[in-house]
Amino acid sequence: MTYARIAGIGSFLPEKVVSNKDLEKIMETSDEWIRERTGIKRRHIAGEGETTGSMGLEAAKRAMDMAGVSADDIDLIILGTATPDKVFPSTACIIQRRLGAKGGPAFDVHAACSGFLYGLDLANRYVQTGGAQKALVIGSETLSRITNWEDRGTAVLFGDGAGAVVLEACDEPGIMATHIHANGEYEELLHVKQGVSIGYDITRKGEAFIEMNGNAVFKRAVATFDSIARETIADLDGHIDDIDWFVPHQANMRIIKAAAKKIGLPMERVIATVDEHANTSGASIPLALDQAVRDGRIKRGDTLLMAAFGAGFTWGSAMLKF
Ligand code: ACO
Repeated sequence: MTYARIAGIGSFLPEKVVSNKDLEKIMETSDEWIRERTGIKRRHIAGEGETTGSMGLEAAKRAMDMAGVSADDIDLIILGTATPDKVFPSTACIIQRRLGAKGGPAFDVHAACSGFLYGLDLANRYVQTGGAQKALVIGSETLSRITNWEDRGTAVLFGDGAGAVVLEACDEPGIMATHIHANGEYEELLHVKQGVSIGYDITRKGEAFIEMNGNAVFKRAVATFDSIARETIADLDGHIDDIDWFVPHQANMRIIKAAAKKIGLPMERVIATVDEHANTSGASIPLALDQAVRDGRIKRGDTLLMAAFGAGFTWGSAMLKF
């Protein structure tokens, strides 16, 4: 039996940091409100010339460095993003070119905040069935470019960044279980109204940005972690103590705490970076994972649970031995 394991991980954050205090200067909000409702203190925002592709590329290079692999070794690239550089080619192809990796498939998956876990699920299946030996799975987002900076209800929540892992084939897990799901019924609760095919109407510019019913999204996110908890507990035959670290999508601190409680894990075993990164959608899990690996909390052999929920709605989880 062939499994996939994480051989390396990397991340990238833009240099520009915008604190809650900075936001106080451009909209009617307060550091206290943002911290209390979301746990967010600051976020990184892409500078001129920084894109989903450029950040994803840097994260990928760092993951490849850790794994000790070169571009020639990479035979699959999957990028989870809702903010691609161009309509086409895919940003995964743009990254492939800049890496100098040729020939293997490269494509984007669009599952909003669940994009990285969708990518991990797919790459895991490729590796398990012999379709790839060394795969890059990347989550990268420039949400600042679809943020309405005049809407305090959403602008305070998001940030930019990228994270990546190299998956490689091996004889032992590795990835033990993945689950991905979607329910398109709630499209309007979290969406960007305008788009390539629907069209852009510059007289209604606000519709080209993220729109969200925050209260409803909050409730759905928390309820969905119930089903993620049930799937996880079934995978573990009820042995929730086998999980060393929970690495959730970093939406906001209240959702993270509610999710940890549903799954039955204390906050001491939860990796939370939402205070420093805000919500970076598909990039948030690999960003949080990279931070915890590099600061020494997550060690080789630890069992990790990752879980995400996002627009679609989409959601998913992955359990693995690091
Ligand atoms: N600063 C100050 N006041 C604000 C701000 C702000 N940035 N934003 C909204 N308010 C005001 C509202 O106008 C409202 O004022 P009113 O009572 O005078 O009408 C008041 O604060 C309360 O607003 P609510 O929307 O009810 O606040 P709530 O407690 O629900 O918090 C929040 C809002 C933080 C968005 C919450 O609903 C939430 O976390 N939702 C989840 C959304 C999320 O994380 N989405 C990310 C994408 S999906 C994902 O990644 C899972």
